[in-house]
Amino acid sequence: MKANIGLIGLAVMGQNLVLNMSDHGFKVAVHNRSPDKTEDFLNGPAKDKGIIGAYSLDELLSSLELPRVVMLMVKAGEVVDHYIEQLVPLMTAGDIIIDGGNSLFTDTNRRTKALKEKNILYIGTGVSGGEEGARNGPSIMPGGNPDAWERVRAIFQSISAQVDNQPCCQWVGDNGAGHYVKMVHNGIEYGDMQLICEAYQLLSEGLGLSADECAGIFAQWNQGELSSYLIEITSNIMAYKDTDGAPLLEKILDTAGQKGTGKWTGINALDLGIPLTLIGESVFARCLSAMKDERVRAAERLPKPVKSYTGDKQAMIDAIRDALYASKIISYAQGFRLMREAAAEYQWSLNYGEIALMWRGGCIIRSAFLNDIKAAYTENPQLENLLLADFFVNAMQQTDGGWRKAVIAGIELGIPTPAFSSALAYYDGYRTARLPANLLQAQRDYFGAHTYERTDQPRGQFFHTDWTGYGGKTASSTYTV
Ligand code: 6PG
Repeated sequence: MKANIGLIGLAVMGQNLVLNMSDHGFKVAVHNRSPDKTEDFLNGPAKDKGIIGAYSLDELLSSLELPRVVMLMVKAGEVVDHYIEQLVPLMTAGDIIIDGGNSLFTDTNRRTKALKEKNILYIGTGVSGGEEGARNGPSIMPGGNPDAWERVRAIFQSISAQVDNQPCCQWVGDNGAGHYVKMVHNGIEYGDMQLICEAYQLLSEGLGLSADECAGIFAQWNQGELSSYLIEITSNIMAYKDTDGAPLLEKILDTAGQKGTGKWTGINALDLGIPLTLIGESVFARCLSAMKDERVRAAERLPKPVKSYTGDKQAMIDAIRDALYASKIISYAQGFRLMREAAAEYQWSLNYGEIALMWRGGCIIRSAFLNDIKAAYTENPQLENLLLADFFVNAMQQTDGGWRKAVIAGIELGIPTPAFSSALAYYDGYRTARLPANLLQAQRDYFGAHTYERTDQPRGQFFHTDWTGYGGKTASSTYTV
């Protein structure tokens, strides 16, 4: 019997996806660069599951039913191109290559187009959920050549997480759309994690609460509107004890790592001119944390406000929860706004409600809150910004006071809250009809004759003023062809 799909790359995600596919009745053939790994897998976790081991790409391809589907679970970047180059000469028209790694969406754009010319159908798909998700049901975000979708739909939708009997996997869009949406997912993941960390520092350092007390608070928060995988694991992490009985969390060095998907999201937001401040701050917060030695030296030189919190503790705990929830809404509003711009820029027709549904289960940012986002887009698929949906207008009204209180406490106590406070700055800017950009335009015109529009004239007419009396009459826009 031929296999339904071949998978290359037996690292942790690859192995678990294979086992998941096999459990769902699909016959899988596997290949790994080093044959030992294939052997270990077939004699270990894959024993007696009928999985076919292939020790060359030729062998892999000849074990597959037509049209052949080969999924790459290898390191993003050159390795993907390397395998594509090796596979293409062995394939025939209509065969499918899938890249399930965290590839940059522009690489997926390029690969989909190049392979289309060779009549090979390409899919670039986000797969989220880590090892456990891959084994028991990840969130899968496929994009690429739509002609490939029907061939792989049954496999992807049956191995993905299911919520309310719906698979957390739908076709996202052409070319790099799937990897783009996965990139934004990861950016949002960075934001969610940073927000939780800021809440943790305010609770532990600001209010002097122990790791166990923090664990209890997060467990409680997990019962309400903040209910999510990341809040749940945070509570478990806080409660976890090292071998000596002390909280392990407190012994972990405070320098964050990152592989780059959050940075990509920030770079793309800058390219598209969309404010994605919370994710940007979250990336920079990781960078600042990594400057450990320099921070330790700075801590000795630069004074911290000598203040401790003396108010009502429970009131501040509630304010911190409000700050976390309100900032999270801002983060998702910014992320979905970015995707809206990307859809226009890259000619994708993204379905935001479906994206929210795909993220509801299986992935790292899975949460109850994504149901509210789905509901907002169901009510109005053209929604300009999540913040304008009734549900979120109400949520912002309810959390506004607590959010500001928590940010002020951070400022007074000298505890950094870059995500809480930049989210608040975005919110205040977004809901302000008139910003001080009039002055900015005047400054640009003053020193560079960059021109400005006037409030008393129709949009699109540009004016220049000779501010000093010795400037010329020529505006810089004269030279803009
Ligand atoms: C997922 C995750 C995953 C990501 C890790 C590490 O959706 O399963 O987003 O794709 O690679 O979370 O990311 P960083 O090393 O950048 O934190």
